[in-house]
Parts: sequence; structure tokens; C-alpha cells
Amino acid sequence: MARLAAAIAPRYRVDRPIARGGMGCVFKGLNNSLQAPVALKVLELATADEVTVHRFEREGQVQARLNHSNIVRVYDTLEYPEFRVLVMEFVSGQSLKEMLKESGRLSVGETRRLGLQMLEALECAHDAGVVHRDVKPGNILMGRKEALLADFGIASAADVSDETLTSPGRPIFTPAYRSPEQEYGAADHRSDIYTLGLTQRQCLLGLQDDKVRGPVEDAAWHGISSDIREVIERSLEVNLQERWQSADEFKAALEKTSEPLMRRWRPAFAAMGLSLAIILVAFFWPPRPQPPPPLPPPPALLPPPALLPALLPAPPPAEPPAFPAEPLPPPAAAPAAAAPEPPRAPPCV
Ligand SMILES: Nc1ncnc2c1ncn2[C@@H]1O[C@H](COP(=O)(O)OP(=O)(O)OP(=O)(O)O)[C@@H](O)[C@H]1O
Ligand SMILES: [Mg+2]
Repeated sequence: MARLAAAIAPRYRVDRPIARGGMGCVFKGLNNSLQAPVALKVLELATADEVTVHRFEREGQVQARLNHSNIVRVYDTLEYPEFRVLVMEFVSGQSLKEMLKESGRLSVGETRRLGLQMLEALECAHDAGVVHRDVKPGNILMGRKEALLADFGIASAADVSDETLTSPGRPIFTPAYRSPEQEYGAADHRSDIYTLGLTQRQCLLGLQDDKVRGPVEDAAWHGISSDIREVIERSLEVNLQERWQSADEFKAALEKTSEPLMRRWRPAFAAMGLSLAIILVAFFWPPRPQPPPPLPPPPALLPPPALLPALLPAPPPAEPPAFPAEPLPPPAAAPAAAAPEPPRAPPCV
């Protein structure tokens, strides 16, 4: 580490080793002028052959042109007499491999989210003519907010020469995570769909590394909804024509699987709805008697109508208007008062 620190100073500082991969060591470091953390993937030339050096250099070239939030950014490549260094965005979380080692498996929701993010990354790479060819938990880094695809060390790119990647006797993929067609060297972007499917299935079922490729019994899927199972299993079709044809197609199918949180809470929502319905029915059933119609207003305390004329004072005689428009004719003799009507018999009931 002291030799590396001396080589990359003063531009970069090396802080601590993060991991040792197949190609070299990865360190956490610092960009001194920006005071920004970086990851330094270091290849020691003394222990690397020509093919390895070529792959390492290609990795930087291929990855540097992919600009996506789910792909680890490459900032720089450095060449020293003793080392080659790839300067990358530092991802603070663990790799998916470490995470699975600790927790065994991921929930359906986590697996689904991770799958969608990796499909975004693959869509970006495939659109740029890049096939990753090494999708596996060790190459997926779990950032604070999102997962990031790393390690394009054996990626194939339409316009970057890769004759050394097919050198005889040198495996160019991780044996447990390979598509059937990768064994014959004829892999296209659908190989990444297959290996992401293997990774997703491993996350969901908690498969050990040596069981990742093998057939999986039905019992292992117990408790996992059939829709997500079908989507993952289609990515693992041996027949290329039967497999999802693109990352986009795979992503659309995964998106359509119902939201696991909703599914988990669905029985609770159903129970709550049912209880509410029971409460409402209990409250309103049997239908309550209608309130009686409002009573008519109580009768006024008046004497019987027959006695009214006798009790009421006689109305005063009508006065002539104060300013008659025309002279009034002489008043006629007052008519004889009408005889009071005899009281009526009460109606028969
Ligand atoms: N940008 C990064 N930020 C943080 N950690 C990283 C970063 N890149 C790599 N690592 C860590 O280093 C490990 C190895 O990285 P990488 O896969 O790139 O190396 P490799 O030599 O190609 O490994 P292998 O051949 O085993 O796939 C990762 O699993 C991860 O733990
Ligand atoms: Mg790797």
C-alpha cells in the first residue's frame, strides 16, 4: 500500500483496502484536490500477464462511457511503472454478495427493486452496444439509495477490440453465473438477462453459490407469488427465443408484478373492510322504525265558532273616507241586522 500511496500522490490518497477481486485490489481513497472519496481498483503489473492488463484497460474504456445512476462511474485511469489504477465513484455500501452472505436472502420487494435497477443499468449498457457478461452479486454494489452495476472487466463492446477476452484456456465469465450460450462463446445481450435472472432467483430463494445454476425444486418457491416467479423463470429460458428479448421487456414484466407491500397487506385490508361492513350492517339492521310524522299544531284555545259572533264586539260602522273624491250620496237606511244563525249540530262521527 505504501508503494501505491507514493505512486498516486499527490493527486490521490489511498486510505484502506476494500476488497480483493480476481483482477486486483480495490481501495478507498481520496481525490485530494476535490476532497472527494474515490474507489481505486489497482492492478499490480508484476503479477499480471498481458491479457489481464489488456482486460483491465478495456474495463476503464468501456465503463467510462456509460453514464447512468445505476452504473459505477469511472473517473480516470492512471498508468505507473508498477501499477494500473482505475479511479471510480466510491460506493459506500456492501456488495450484494456480502449482503447475501449476511442475510441469506432478500425479500420479494427488495429483489424486485434491485432487479428493476439492474435492468435500468443493463438497458443503458445494451443501448450503448455493451454486454456486461459478468452480472453476479459480487459485481452489484448496494449504494445508499440505489444498487450500482460494477466491474465491466469482461464486457464486450461492439467497437472496442476484445480478442484477448476469448483467449483459449482462460474463462471469461464466473462459472456459476453464466448463460447456456456463454459456454459456447456466442453471448449477446440476452446473456445478461439470463445471469440477472440467476441473481434474482438466488436473492429470492437464498440459494447457495453452488446451487445458483442448477434446477430449483417447486418447494423452494413456496410462499412466493407466481407472477414474480414466472417473470424470473422466463429470464432463465435456455431457448433464446423464449427468454425476455430485452432488458426493457424484462423490466416491463417485472413492473407489472403487484407491489409486494400491497400484497402483504392485502389480507389485512380485506379483513378491515369486512369488519367495517359488519359494523355498518349491525348498526343499520334491522331498519329502525321511521320517526312519526310531526304533529299538527295544537288548536288555538278559542270558543266554539258558534259562540264567536255573540262574544265578539260588533265591528264599528265603516267611516267615510276623509277626502271623498266625489260627494257621497245620502246614507241609505241601515239594513236590518241579520238574525244570528242557529248553532249547528256537531258533525256525526
Ligand atoms: N466503486 C466501488 N466502490 C466501493 N467498492 C467497490 C467498488 N468497486 C469495487 N468494489 C469492491 O471491490 C469488490 C471487487 O470489485 P470488482 O468486482 O470490480 O473487482 P474484480 O477484481 O473484477 O473482482 P472479480 O473478478 O471477483 O469480479 C467488489 O465486490 C466491491 O466489494
Ligand atoms: Mg468483480
